[in-house]
Amino acid sequence: KEIVVYDEVESTNSKANELLKQGYPSGTVVVADRQIKGKGRLGRKWISPSGKNLYMSIGIKPTIPPKYATLLTLTSVVACTTALRRYADVPVLIKWPNDMLVDDKKVGGILTEMKIEGEKIKSAVVGIGINVNMTEEDMPEEIKEIASSLKICKGEDFSRSLLAVEIIKEFDKWYQLLEKRQRKTIIDRWMQLSGTIGRQVKIVLSDRELIATAEAIDEEGRLIVKLTDGTYEKICAGDVTLLR
Ligand code: BTN
Repeated sequence: KEIVVYDEVESTNSKANELLKQGYPSGTVVVADRQIKGKGRLGRKWISPSGKNLYMSIGIKPTIPPKYATLLTLTSVVACTTALRRYADVPVLIKWPNDMLVDDKKVGGILTEMKIEGEKIKSAVVGIGINVNMTEEDMPEEIKEIASSLKICKGEDFSRSLLAVEIIKEFDKWYQLLEKRQRKTIIDRWMQLSGTIGRQVKIVLSDRELIATAEAIDEEGRLIVKLTDGTYEKICAGDVTLLR
């Protein structure tokens, strides 16, 4: 498999997508030292200074049907969380769908972008951002309250390349399970690593807000929540805040 390393890119996601289009094989990994247009979920930007963090994207050509598209992200966050726990020994928990939190502060996130044509996922890019050696001084004011890093958690520096290797190994393993339709194994592991299930959450949807208890995820990766009136709803996309 190929790992392509850059000093600077606009976004490793866009780069991985370009490489797939140029004929690079499924599984191609792009890593960059910095991004000038790092992208977060929901149209946000991802702060991507040089020398500090891991910015990595994996370009793939999945064979799973589009209805399991969300599971690709859940699979990736299970892989990253497992790698972070092993490599840095930090108690990372997952917030649905794909945030990696330590003490309710974000140390990493995943942005999956896909091209779907008819009944097939034509290509997908899983973009992984991990705050590795960023300190509070390195963070802009607006994220200080909500973000953390491995260095902030453990008080030491970590190697971005060794972490990348751990993540790639775990991703390989979990992605193979997804392709082999071992969805339950992935969902069970996601639930074990989840800090969301059982918590009260606020969900901001495009047209309304909900306060509910997160109960589980279903086999397509949707979050099942119980509303205060006792009814259940399934959430596919949206912004989830943990309340208590
Ligand atoms: C989130 O909003 O939580 C997702 C953040 C994903 C950031 C990573 S950094 C590498 C890849 N390239 C990007 O532009 N975004 C992702």
